[in-house]
Amino acid sequence: MTYVARKERYDTMKYNYCGNSGLKISAISLGLWHNFGDANSHENSRTMIRRAFDLGITHFDLANNYGPPPGSAEVNFGRILRDDFKGYRDEIVISTKAGYRMWPGPYGDFASKKYLVASIDQSLKRMGLDYVDIFYHHRPDEMTPLEETMGALDGIVRQGKALYIGLSNYKPDQAKKAFAILTALGTPCLIHQPRYSMLDRWIEDGLLTLLEDAGVGCIAFSPLGKGMLTNRYLYGVPEDSRAASQSTFLKSEDITENLILKVAMLNKIAEQRKQSMAQLALAWVLRNKQMTSVLIGASKVSQIDDCVGALQRLDFTVEELDAIDRILENH
Ligand SMILES: NC(=O)c1ccc[n+]([C@@H]2O[C@H](COP(=O)([O-])OP(=O)(O)OC[C@H]3O[C@@H](n4cnc5c(N)ncnc54)[C@H](OP(=O)(O)O)[C@@H]3O)[C@@H](O)[C@H]2O)c1
Repeated sequence: MTYVARKERYDTMKYNYCGNSGLKISAISLGLWHNFGDANSHENSRTMIRRAFDLGITHFDLANNYGPPPGSAEVNFGRILRDDFKGYRDEIVISTKAGYRMWPGPYGDFASKKYLVASIDQSLKRMGLDYVDIFYHHRPDEMTPLEETMGALDGIVRQGKALYIGLSNYKPDQAKKAFAILTALGTPCLIHQPRYSMLDRWIEDGLLTLLEDAGVGCIAFSPLGKGMLTNRYLYGVPEDSRAASQSTFLKSEDITENLILKVAMLNKIAEQRKQSMAQLALAWVLRNKQMTSVLIGASKVSQIDDCVGALQRLDFTVEELDAIDRILENH
């Protein structure tokens, strides 16, 4: 059946300006790192994208290597765009990235102009797009001069293959230098994509202040700690979970007794706030005024519904924040 987006999709979602730019991004964005590759059910992937858009999520985040196999998330997303979203391209912000290993040899990885230009062309082809909204350099590279990488990103924007540039996983000192080069070239950095959650607070040590000063937006990836900051593992490791799949990035061994103790205590605070654990974790990330969006992953439509529900209660009392800090520090 032809997909027609829900009329009310913009009624309850929150949209934040991305740094000093004129681009607004939904406070919840959906990432396609897991669950959108060839190894996954295409119907489930398609249903999740449709539901996300119906709930007002306008931003979908990809990378050249998402799958498995690498590249298949872009191919599958392109198919969904063609099948269901023909009239909606101008309502959607699509990002992709390059920086990790994508093809064999010295030009399939890291940060050279040779790699970045080839990678954006490949991504556009896989998704069937003329341009992406945001093109990211996925990770910093000590060996390539920043001038070369930023020059390549600026060139990609000038060629119309991306509207904006983002950087991911750059530490504050690297980000500061990169922002200065991009600004001098006339393509200021739009957004930074760091990992940030209750389990990993490194961006509070300098990066958030830098982003505020530079007018660059921030989108936090893995805000649910890859699923650990939800009710997913409170009573064991479910068979259909990411940890059970023993992925390189989350293994059942990571679900320690100490983690579960901590999450159970946080979950009590969530219950008092009439929220799910996932909703508490997302609201907590969004409490930072520099935070443009939280970039979630999902394996089921019900998880997207639950996550979007976080927006119903974003405020925190000082007592709640203190109680959360104590749990995170002491356990
Ligand atoms: N720039 C980078 O280097 C980088 C790195 C990593 C990720 N990312 C981006 O960030 C996105 C999100 O990363 P992530 O998937 O690790 O994020 P996450 O939101 O921390 O974790 C997502 C996982 O949490 C579980 N989940 C989600 N909502 C839930 C809910 N309401 N209740 C219970 N469980 C729930 C699901 O686990 P199950 O699958 O077990 O159901 C889901 O797959 C990626 O898709 C990608 O776009 C970027």
